[in-house]
Amino acid sequence: MIILGFESSCDETGVALACTERGLLAHALHSQIAMHGEYGGVVPELASRDHIRRVVPLTRQVLAEAGLSWRDIGAVAYTAGPGLGGALLVGASVAQAVAWAHGLPTLGIHHLEGHLLSPLLAEPQPTFPFLALLVSGGHTQIMKVSGVGEYELLGETLDDAAGEAFDKTAKLMGLPYPGGPALAALAEQGNEHAVQLPRPMLHSHDYDFSFSGLKTAVLTRMRQLTAAAAQEGEGSRREAVASLPPTPADTAAAALAVPLQARADLAAATQAAIVDVLVAKAVRALKDEGLTRLVVAGGVGANKRLRHKLQEALASVRNAEVFFPPLEFCTDNGAMIAFAAALRINAGKAQFNTDHAFTVRPR
Ligand code: KG4
Ligand code: ZN
Repeated sequence: MIILGFESSCDETGVALACTERGLLAHALHSQIAMHGEYGGVVPELASRDHIRRVVPLTRQVLAEAGLSWRDIGAVAYTAGPGLGGALLVGASVAQAVAWAHGLPTLGIHHLEGHLLSPLLAEPQPTFPFLALLVSGGHTQIMKVSGVGEYELLGETLDDAAGEAFDKTAKLMGLPYPGGPALAALAEQGNEHAVQLPRPMLHSHDYDFSFSGLKTAVLTRMRQLTAAAAQEGEGSRREAVASLPPTPADTAAAALAVPLQARADLAAATQAAIVDVLVAKAVRALKDEGLTRLVVAGGVGANKRLRHKLQEALASVRNAEVFFPPLEFCTDNGAMIAFAAALRINAGKAQFNTDHAFTVRPR
């Protein structure tokens, strides 16, 4: 069976075709990063409107790329949540509309299940059971995956997600949205040992995480650095209007007045702190659960240091292997949704909807 899949939970419109026998057939993506960049973060209303603009052309594109017509499609899958309510409704409505028009069943897919199964899009594929480290902008979880639909949550973040920690600390350093890749790039020029940052919950006897303390430590350090930069004379103009509250643009300008090397050192130290905790907990969970395969999924899985440090840590664990999704499937995409639907159908675990009454679950 061939499944048409839609992803529209946040700021990427993804459309893909996957086959239950042949795997992924075609996929197309439009990223809204440039559009939201101007605002320093995702603007939900703009995200929904842009999904509406992109989804039909992208659908035509994947059908043409795969050389398929509507007659070849057997089911329509879409991200049912979590994500932005309005954005999710675009994908869900379009999925239901085309399914209704063509007499097809629909299948709502959990966004995190899409991420979780995306490493199976790469060769070699990890086999079940495996441990998954799911690190995205909204979630940080360690899960035991015994099969399709068999997920056991072992630990998660108590506050910010790992991607959120990257994004928020990057913003404090005056970096553009999305912060993760920008911070990782700046970190390459920095010395991680130049600044000492906390590794929250590194030694707690569980698989949970906490990143808000790290964010506070970075904020404190940036305040010291911006104050020092202001004393160097850069801030004299600002003092004249010191009675006004700082705008986001003021904050970014103040951050950018800090010498590049100091910001790069802080970026390197921040990345090292986040990665250290992720690696330590994932490796410990893998050993404790007696598993050998670790699968990394979600946007932060694109981080080079995380990839390198996990490989390094697992080199000393007997028979251990680590699997990553192809880089293009780390961040949000339609391929993982169509593909997860195909895997669910193959596993006999697809709950089809044929009456086209639907809802989305933002949380
Ligand atoms: O999975 P994703 O695309 O969206 C969610 O479902 O949240 O993840 C996006 C997150 C953002 O926080 C982004 O900053 C982060 O992944 N990210 C990275 C990198 N690439 C994306 N974080 C660190 N290093 C990267 N190279
Ligand atoms: Zn995601």
